[in-house]
Amino acid sequence: MTELIKLKAQPVLEKIRINEDCILYRGDCLEVLAAFPRESVDMIFADPPYNLSNGGFTCHSGRAVSVDKGDWDKSRGIEKNFEFHKKWIAACKRVLKPNGTIWISGTYHSIYSCGFALDLLGYHILNDISWFKPNASPNLSCRYFTASHETLIWARRSKNERHTFNYELMKNGAFGRDMLKTPNKQMRSVWAIPTPPPQEKKHGKHPTQKPVELLERIILASTHPNALVLDPFMGSGTTAIACLRHNRSFVGIEMQNEYIELSIKRIKDELKNGNLLRNPKMGKYGG
Ligand SMILES: C[S@@+](CC[C@H](N)C(=O)[O-])C[C@H]1O[C@@H](n2cnc3c(N)ncnc32)[C@H](O)[C@@H]1O
Repeated sequence: MTELIKLKAQPVLEKIRINEDCILYRGDCLEVLAAFPRESVDMIFADPPYNLSNGGFTCHSGRAVSVDKGDWDKSRGIEKNFEFHKKWIAACKRVLKPNGTIWISGTYHSIYSCGFALDLLGYHILNDISWFKPNASPNLSCRYFTASHETLIWARRSKNERHTFNYELMKNGAFGRDMLKTPNKQMRSVWAIPTPPPQEKKHGKHPTQKPVELLERIILASTHPNALVLDPFMGSGTTAIACLRHNRSFVGIEMQNEYIELSIKRIKDELKNGNLLRNPKMGKYGG
């Protein structure tokens, strides 16, 4: 883990060291990633901008609300969005270990662009996971199907390396809340996990916050204890919380101050009260 702390250069970024296993960077991920050593990270989870905040409406708690997640989520047009995705996915490839893997989450606004970039850059796609949200908000217009899933692409850096997949844990672990997972049967590529519960938002809200349960599953599936996990679009720090719960080291990058502050609050709370929050059934498998 400590290798990552030795940056080659010091561009415009700020390092926030929570402890030796959890380090945050405030800055643009393209600049921060350029300063990281090559082939140093075991796994990357990336939840990049969706490029969907362009004046539409969605339903939240039964009300019509504007889809404006922030400037960071505005579309710059198909080509520019794609160029951005290609750049950060290439930067991630440089810092991943040869047998490392990357997870990218998104909706149809962004995920095909990211998938094309992965192919172009020579990654080897392992799976696409459909994250089904049983409690998704209804569709107000009644002119479309209700959007109730996001897609996660899981890819290996190189075609010829062996990646980590904790097959037995995924097959036999305790996933009791997922109505699509049959106990002691192989884990399939559709996961039913609700959106974040209120207690995961008690320190403040992020418009695209992921549930900790989703990140716990990803980390337990594709890393060993003590692995180094990187999140270049950290948001509210969900990946950090999952890493802390399962003895993985974490490096996160986020460019918005308010989300860095939110992540710090969540991480400190987890470090203080972690044993209370920890899902005991998952914990016993996580090492
Ligand atoms: C989809 S959200 C991630 C949400 C996160 N997974 C969570 O659970 O809270 C994307 C985040 O990336 C940040 N972001 C966007 N562009 C960035 C960039 N170039 N460098 C670093 N952070 C960026 C945004 O501020 C936003 O918080």
